[in-house]
Amino acid sequence: MKDILTQLEDRRAQAQAGGGPRRVEAQHAKGKLSARERIELLLDEGSFEEFDMFVTHRATDFGMASNKVAGDGVITGWGTINGRQVYVFSQDFTVLGGSVSETHGQKICKIMDMAVQNGAPIIGMNDSGGARIQEGVGSLAAYGEVFQRNILASGVVPQISMIMGPCAGGAVYSPAMTDFIFMVRDSSYMFVTGPDVVKTVTNEVVTAEELGGASTHTRKSSVADGAFENDIEALAEVRRLIDFLPANNRAGVPRRPFFDDPARVDDSLDTLIPANPNTPYDMKELILKVADEGDFYEIQEDFAKNIITGFVRLEGSTVGVVANQPMVLAGCLDIDSSRKAARFVRFCDAFDIPILTFVDVPGFLPGTGQEYAGVIKHGAKLLYAYGEATVPKVTVITRKTYGGAYVVMSSKHLRGDINYAWPTAEVAVMGAKGAVEILYRSDLGDTDKIAARTAEYEENFANPFKAAERGFIDEVIMPHSTRRRVCRAFASLRGKRVTTPWKKHDNIPL
Ligand code: HXC
Repeated sequence: MKDILTQLEDRRAQAQAGGGPRRVEAQHAKGKLSARERIELLLDEGSFEEFDMFVTHRATDFGMASNKVAGDGVITGWGTINGRQVYVFSQDFTVLGGSVSETHGQKICKIMDMAVQNGAPIIGMNDSGGARIQEGVGSLAAYGEVFQRNILASGVVPQISMIMGPCAGGAVYSPAMTDFIFMVRDSSYMFVTGPDVVKTVTNEVVTAEELGGASTHTRKSSVADGAFENDIEALAEVRRLIDFLPANNRAGVPRRPFFDDPARVDDSLDTLIPANPNTPYDMKELILKVADEGDFYEIQEDFAKNIITGFVRLEGSTVGVVANQPMVLAGCLDIDSSRKAARFVRFCDAFDIPILTFVDVPGFLPGTGQEYAGVIKHGAKLLYAYGEATVPKVTVITRKTYGGAYVVMSSKHLRGDINYAWPTAEVAVMGAKGAVEILYRSDLGDTDKIAARTAEYEENFANPFKAAERGFIDEVIMPHSTRRRVCRAFASLRGKRVTTPWKKHDNIPL
């Protein structure tokens, strides 16, 4: 018996050694943690239950029969993050470059199936040279099986991809179909074709970092939702994100103890809006002052900064926040901000996370650049996302909200449940100057007349009351009481139920 126990321990030790100390050292020398170290940091201490530690590939070509490492380059299983269950896979670059074989893929598929069946998030730590070259189509099939599961799991359990090394070729499409992608600066990259192919085909000379590094994907392409300095920070931040997320699409948002009075008044909000309507202010200040304990988890912080998206808690429960940011492009909507916010709104709706929207939007960004790139279709994404969302939706208009953008930003007309406005709000088709120039074109030379017309327009529309008179605004609220009003609004919506006509699925303008 003792021999058998020792044998098991030896086999475990062998599997745990991965590609051996030399390769682990090489991994460390690149500033990367090993696959097992990552799991240890991500999960609660001692909570990891590993599966398939002894799985090996079955390939024989290219001398592979004698090149087997137990586990086959990916560590899989489940554990907990602050006591809540998650499924994980962590690719081991020290074993054949973390490349995906048929069996490597099967291990990932197994935990994906279990995650869906048991209703827990999936976190993938990607660090791989891609399809295992020696296995040919077997490895492509493995990717295909993973892709199909990404699709089936979408909207059922949260899927998070951490890119912690190479991720190239078709391999990028598994993370691309997950809910959130996080990268590590200077040690991870993602691209469909690498710098050498780019050079051959397009003659462009570009480094891997420029082509597909964290900065590129968080600032330019928006493929990634966040970037972190190193593995340790990335893993800590994903733990923080998991704390905000529901376990699945039926579990409801997590609730946790909170130490912030829901009725807390913040007098400084009464002076947040500058006297001059064209002077920007920082919308993040409002978000932080409304959130429990000022805790805000921002998504896509570095992309389309004219709109802010992320998670807060109100009375201990997660709420998704979407807010125009007057500090950037005056907070207008454009292609990038519409796409960014639409995807966020759809994530929230899929997982039953209520949505809080703060509005200060002068309209859509004009210009050929926007029109040629399809702002009509992309802007419609956000409109569509808000309109289809059935989760509780509370909206606060802080300052201007003009034209189509007024309707888009979770207005009453798109089934906004509770729509508040600050006294500084202006709900109109457009600003006074633009309106007067159109309505009184023949008077444009007469400054007195124009001033009188402008004053008349402002008197009529530069306030929230016209909209409130029609019930499009439920109540004009004091800025200092925003947290209390918003908390009570969401509390009143906890029992919300909406039915929608049967359909196979929708046809959002992609
Ligand atoms: C098998 C691989 C491998 C792969 C790396 N290795 N990639 N083995 N299949 N795809 C092995 C290497 O032989 C080496 O083994 C070890 O992993 C480490 O690789 P190095 O090259 O020494 O590491 P490094 O210098 O850091 O370079 C990493 C790399 C490079 C940039 C990822 O290995 C590379 O270019 N690999 C090939 C990438 C690729 O073209 N993959 C296919 C992409 S297409 P030893 O024994 O020496 O430690 C694809 C399609 C997916 O993935 C389609 C889905 C539908």
